[in-house]
This record gives sequence, C-alpha cells and structure tokens, in this order.
Amino acid sequence: MSQRWLAKSVVVTVIGALASVWMGLSLAATPDSTAPVAATTATDSPQYKRGKLLYIQCRACHALQAEEPHKVGPNLHGFVGRKAGTVEGFIFSAALKQSDLTWDEPTILKWLEKPSALVPGNTMAFAGIANPKDRDSILVYLQAETQPK
Ligand code: HEC
Repeated sequence: MSQRWLAKSVVVTVIGALASVWMGLSLAATPDSTAPVAATTATDSPQYKRGKLLYIQCRACHALQAEEPHKVGPNLHGFVGRKAGTVEGFIFSAALKQSDLTWDEPTILKWLEKPSALVPGNTMAFAGIANPKDRDSILVYLQAETQPK
C-alpha cells in the first residue's frame, strides 16, 4: 500500500518535472527568445538560403554588417523597425525622408515588391520582385543578416 503510494507520487513528480522542462523549452522557442538562437535556426532554413541567393540583386548597392560603408544605397544594418531614410552618413532622397515610413515587415515587403509604388520619387534603381515567396525569402535573409549581434 505505502509502496504503491510512493510509486504514484514518483510518477507525479516525474511528470511535473517533464512538464516544466517542456514549458521552458516552448517558451524558449517563442520569437521573443534570444537572438542567437533565432539566427542559427533561420540560417538553416530553405527560405534563408533562397533569400541569400536573391540578395545578390541587392549586394552591389547595400552592405548589411555594422561598420561596413554605405555603397550606392545605405548600409542596412539594423534597419528592421527603424524609420525610413534616417541612417547617418547617407544622403537619402527627399521622397524617402518624407515618406514617414517605418521598416516593419509589411512595409519591407511592399518596398521589395515595387519601391516606386510605395515611395514615388525614391532613388533606388530597382524594379521590384514579382514573386511573393521570393519577397518573403529576402525578408528572412535580411532579418537574420541585419540584426544587431
Ligand atoms: C542600384 C542600387 C540599388 C539596388 C540594386 C538596391 N537598392 Fe536599396 N536602395 C538604394 C538607394 C539609392 C536607396 C536610397 C533611396 C532613396 O533615398 O530614395 C535604397 C534604399 C533601400 C532601403 C531603405 C533603407 C532605409 O534606411 O530607409 C531598403 C530597405 C533597401 N534599399 C533594400 C534593398 C533590397 C532588399 C534590395 C534588393 C532586393 C535593394 N535595396 C536593391 C539602392 C539600391
């Protein structure tokens, strides 16, 4: 009788421990978890790899890492979540500066689709990316590569 009770309470304890480990893991897997974890997973994904390939179209004009100089276009390090046309040391068009846009995900995707439609008069010489899946992939790549480390 007392042995059965003991066995039961051990089972309950083990289940409790497993449950808290599981909850800890699923909490750690939320998008708000620490950046290095998210970045490692992102760089393994097919979307990231596709985005990296597509980024060749942007590479001549944009750097992504901190401390790299601006090219024909501004360095994009840390641009996600920032106000458009505000990076120091780059001369933006009046159109982009006055756009009052913030680079959140939907805005970036619209920009990638057709920059001239989102901000008429901007000076980025790039027609846009027609395929929505390709736009998503570039976004995944940009998010991983431009986030402050
Ligand atoms: C021919 C050069 C060129 C190419 C190619 C190009 N860009 Fe640009 N990009 C620019 C210029 C110039 C600006 C500034 C536009 C302005 O001031 O109106 C800019 C601005 C931007 C901005 C806004 C930055 C900010 O801080 O507000 C983003 C984001 C951006 N480009 C992403 C991309 C991506 C992603 C690609 C590839 C799909 C790309 N660009 C291709 C030249 C280029």
